[in-house]
Amino acid sequence: MAPSTARLSPSRGKGYIVAMDGPAGVGKSTVGQCVAKRLGYHFINTGEMFRALTWKALEDGVDVEDQQAVVRLAGRLKWEFRPTEGGVTLKTFIDGQGVTVQIREERVSANSSAVAANPGVRRLLCRLQRRLGRRGAIVMEGRDITTHVFPNADFKFYLDASAEERARRRYRQLKASGMPAELSKIHAAILQRDLNDLKRKINPLSQAADAMVIDSTHLSMRQVAEKMLRMIRSKA
Ligand code: C5P
Repeated sequence: MAPSTARLSPSRGKGYIVAMDGPAGVGKSTVGQCVAKRLGYHFINTGEMFRALTWKALEDGVDVEDQQAVVRLAGRLKWEFRPTEGGVTLKTFIDGQGVTVQIREERVSANSSAVAANPGVRRLLCRLQRRLGRRGAIVMEGRDITTHVFPNADFKFYLDASAEERARRRYRQLKASGMPAELSKIHAAILQRDLNDLKRKINPLSQAADAMVIDSTHLSMRQVAEKMLRMIRSKA
């Protein structure tokens, strides 16, 4: 299919808000970037913001369980979102520093749930996310984008896939990049992350009643992106 870069006629500002949620490892970023690129929109992965703050807290020796200290740190930082990767993806910079590589460290993954459970942090990051979406023309993914950050988004999607399939995908990714990987451990980590997301007291992961649910267990990322684009174009 020939890729179309034609912009949709905007309902606000320069274009629509496309909100996506779903569990860890479901492919939201791959799909979201693809959809944003095809629409000529920006893409933002909000998990990066929580990870960036977690990394900074660990670097600065701030206890991630000390909620007030983490909120103070978040408020002191200069947050910027600069376009990279062909101008589509907005990457998180804190105090002028790009953190793409550091935020994937294991210690960041292990501590990010505590930071994501902090109400003050969520309020601050939600404000930043809403500011990024103010002019539209954005695809934003996370855990609470359809339910809390943009409950009135023009398009809402909830991506899902079985934990087994998400673990297999992660396993294949790691193997392909020559990294050591153990399927049973990856599966256990995915189940733990699901639990953390679902049991969080504020803004837990949940399906918005009006979101289009796409189960990608038996679909490729490309097929998921095509489904979303068809839906957006049919309603736009
Ligand atoms: O998606 P990713 O695993 O990179 O997210 C990092 C952390 O931020 C996770 O703990 C996830 O639950 C949390 N998160 C969140 N709300 C979002 C995006 C991510 O609580 N909108």
